[in-house]
Order: sequence, then structure tokens, then C-alpha cells
Amino acid sequence: MLVENLEDIAAYIVDDGKGILAADESNPTCSKRFESIGVVSTEEKRRDYREMLFRSDGVPDNIGGVILFDETIRQRAADGTLLREVIAEQGALFGIKVDQGVRPIDGCPGETVTVGLDGLDERLQEYASMGAKFTKWRAVIKIGSAIPSEKCIELNMKALASYAALAQANGMVPIVEPEVLMEGEHTIDSCHEVTERALNALFQCLEQDGVNLKGSLLKPNMITAGAGCSVQASVDDVAERTLICLKAIVPSAVPGICFLSGGQSDLQATAHLDAMNKIGGFPWKISFSYGRALQSSALSAWGGSPDRVRSAQDAFTHRASMNRLAALGKWNKELEAG
Ligand code: G3H
Repeated sequence: MLVENLEDIAAYIVDDGKGILAADESNPTCSKRFESIGVVSTEEKRRDYREMLFRSDGVPDNIGGVILFDETIRQRAADGTLLREVIAEQGALFGIKVDQGVRPIDGCPGETVTVGLDGLDERLQEYASMGAKFTKWRAVIKIGSAIPSEKCIELNMKALASYAALAQANGMVPIVEPEVLMEGEHTIDSCHEVTERALNALFQCLEQDGVNLKGSLLKPNMITAGAGCSVQASVDDVAERTLICLKAIVPSAVPGICFLSGGQSDLQATAHLDAMNKIGGFPWKISFSYGRALQSSALSAWGGSPDRVRSAQDAFTHRASMNRLAALGKWNKELEAG
């Protein structure tokens, strides 16, 4: 599959309702996910689990890109094929998470900045030589009493823009992810206000650094109330508020907006995506880049057992196809039963 320039790569990933499988959990995060099903996270188990996902029938029709973690981009399937080749054979592009996690910000209690710019150029060159076509960097913004601070937003958005410019200089599409966390008791208004601040700052920084928006993808949170808030918004409210926020800020040059799921249930993540696409009237493709909301049913069905690979793949295929339908605005609850 020859998809070479930045704009074609971005367009390919979100073509015709396709979205992204975020399988870039760091080893500690993967251990947490495996703990929930009583499986010890070893290099081999992580390989088996991800090979199961990548070989699933749900990939060719529904997944345009798979985000990998450094370990996985170098790993081989049980038969010796590189996992990245397995993905390519399934017709999807593979990309790589290139940030190196978060560090506390001096003078800003409870806030973090994402790091990984040191040596990034060299790492990007290596990933490009392996055939990676896109990259991801996640900034984390927490809502709490008197946070986020301006400093937290500024440091994180500047880092996202520096990363994006370097990724493009190395021929790879940057997925820019400014995640406003769902954790907390904040209202939907507060999520809206903070997401607006973060996105405004992000697009200013991207412009200052000369990032080609047509060759980038945005991976934002949806506008929801905090998970601990006593008043939760309806599906339609979340969809409307999210579109209001994005339409006010995200330039039409951005080809695709691929949401993170951020702790939403599988069904919520699908229903919200579908509701936005049913409303329509925006210039970008609106799709998914889900981690948990694409994987959780497959993870439980797998349970670490080779005998359950087929049913886990079926669970993944179902979720991926539901999300593709949602990205086309053609999903409904009845389809879940089928
Ligand atoms: O960076 C976050 C992941 O790529 C998306 O994960 O959908 O579970 O929030 P999530």
C-alpha cells in the first residue's frame, strides 16, 4: 500500500468511516488492563493479545490506522512476522506513540507536562525507516479547583506543536491529542470552557510552528461532565456541545477529528460519535481513535486464553464495525444486538 504524502496519509486513515485503533498502551497501563482480567502482563502475553487484535476480521473494513507502543513496533507475531507487517497486510497504516509520559510542573501542584522532545528527531527517523506513517503525542489537562493553570496549558500546547512540526519534517502525520480528563466532579460547562482554552492555545501554537493542518489529525476529548459529576448530560447534549466547541475553533483545513474515549463505556463512545455524525454540518471527518472503548469487550472475551482468541476477535470486530457505522452516522442501538 503506497500512501506517502502527509495529506494522503491523514485522509486514508479516516476514509469512509474508518478510524484508529489506539493500541499504544505503555507497559504499566497494559499491566493494569491485564490485571482487570487476571492476566500477568509479560512481553509474550502483550504480543499474543495485540496479535489477536491485529489479525481480527474487524481491521480491514473498519480500521485505517493502528497506534503502537515502541515495544510492539519491534515485536514479531508467533509465526515470526513483524506485527507491523500484520497490520499492513490487513490494509491499515501503523503509527507510533512518541511522547514519553508526563512529569509534574514546578509551581503547579497536581499538573503535568508531557515530555519526550529530547532526542525525538532521532527516534522519529528510526520509526519512519520502519514504515510508520503517523505518530501520536498526548497532553493531559486536569480540571480541578483553580486548575488548569495557564502555564500548564501553554507548556503542553507548545510541546504538542513542536512535536507535530518534527513529525511532519520526518514525513509522518502528527496526531495531536490535548486530552481534558474526564476524571473529576466538574460540570459539562467546565469541560467546555477548559477544552476551548486548550484548543485555542493549541491552534495558535500549531500556526506559530508552521504545522501543516491538512497533514495532521486532531484527537480531542468530547465535551462531557466529569465522571464524578452528579449531573450527566444526555447523548444529544454531549454531541451538540462537542460540535459547538469544535466548530468555533478547529480550522476546516484539519482533515479529521478522531476522538479518544477517555473512560466512556463502549456504548456511550459509539452513541456520541453517531449522534455527532447524524447532526453533521462540519468540514472535517469525525471518527474514532479509541483505546478502551474498542478493546474492553475483546479483552474480557480473551481473558488470556488461546482458546478464546476467536470469540475475542469477534467482539473486537463487532465494536469496530459499530464505530465505523457511528462515524458514518448510521449506527443505532438495535444493531448492537445483531
Ligand atoms: O491516548 C489515549 C489513547 O490513545 C486512547 O485511549 O480511548 O482509552 O482514552 P482511550
